[in-house]
Amino acid sequence: MNDASGSTGERSITVEEAIRGRKSTRAFLKKPAPRELIARILTTAGRAPSGSNIQPWKVFVFDGKQRDEIAADLLQRYDTVGEGAREYEYYPTKWYEPYLTRRRACGWGLYTTMGITRDDKAGMHAQRRQNYEFFGAPTAMIFTLDRQLEKGSWLDTGMFIQSIMIAARQFGLETIPQAALANYHEVLRARLNIPDGEIVICGMGIGYPDTNAKVNSFTTEREPLENFVTWVDALKPAKD
Ligand SMILES: Cc1cc2nc3c(=O)[nH]c(=O)nc-3n(C[C@H](O)[C@H](O)[C@H](O)COP(=O)(O)O)c2cc1C
Repeated sequence: MNDASGSTGERSITVEEAIRGRKSTRAFLKKPAPRELIARILTTAGRAPSGSNIQPWKVFVFDGKQRDEIAADLLQRYDTVGEGAREYEYYPTKWYEPYLTRRRACGWGLYTTMGITRDDKAGMHAQRRQNYEFFGAPTAMIFTLDRQLEKGSWLDTGMFIQSIMIAARQFGLETIPQAALANYHEVLRARLNIPDGEIVICGMGIGYPDTNAKVNSFTTEREPLENFVTWVDALKPAKD
């Protein structure tokens, strides 16, 4: 990997490597990415496509004192009130296969990496708690969407979010997308002054990865192509 610019950590990276090398990063260095760099990444991600180019995404970005204060509020809420609830369902209310098995593999894979056993409820709680300090990421983002918009705009916003995660990698930055943050939408709404007309979708921590952290050695698996691709080699006869 070439360092093309020195100070920004810019490097030559193929699109394939940018996508395949991305992974959820759950430990970061304290050094924040310069705001101009975050702005550059967001400008790039803003080139994401959207139906009729309505560009529905909105993002609140904070670091430094604001980040620390919000983390303190979220942690306080998690410690005293417990897990909050999102304003929308991310997951099915009743899990079923094959998603249940994949979900378990992801959760247990992370816990096993961290040496957390099945009966270690305190360990799981502590690991989960890190969501609310953005896993140590020095910069955080909260994504919102106008409530009146429909499902298509959620697709568009997902593309915007993925574009951030990929564009960040050109500068040696990594990310953790965080639906957990939407559990405390009312805390975020109050502190970030998010209008009532907008729904909190999720958040993201972004920063330079702590490559020595054990948690970052966890890599998730993916299904083989045949499990999600249908190559259409024959059509059903057309009805007359
Ligand atoms: C929209 C979205 C929300 C997520 N929310 C969380 C979260 O709240 N906490 C967390 O630790 N990981 C979260 N993840 C990370 C997923 O667990 C992760 O993407 C998945 O296990 C695949 O691993 P990878 O990102 O390392 O490829 C989220 C991912 C997405 C796309």
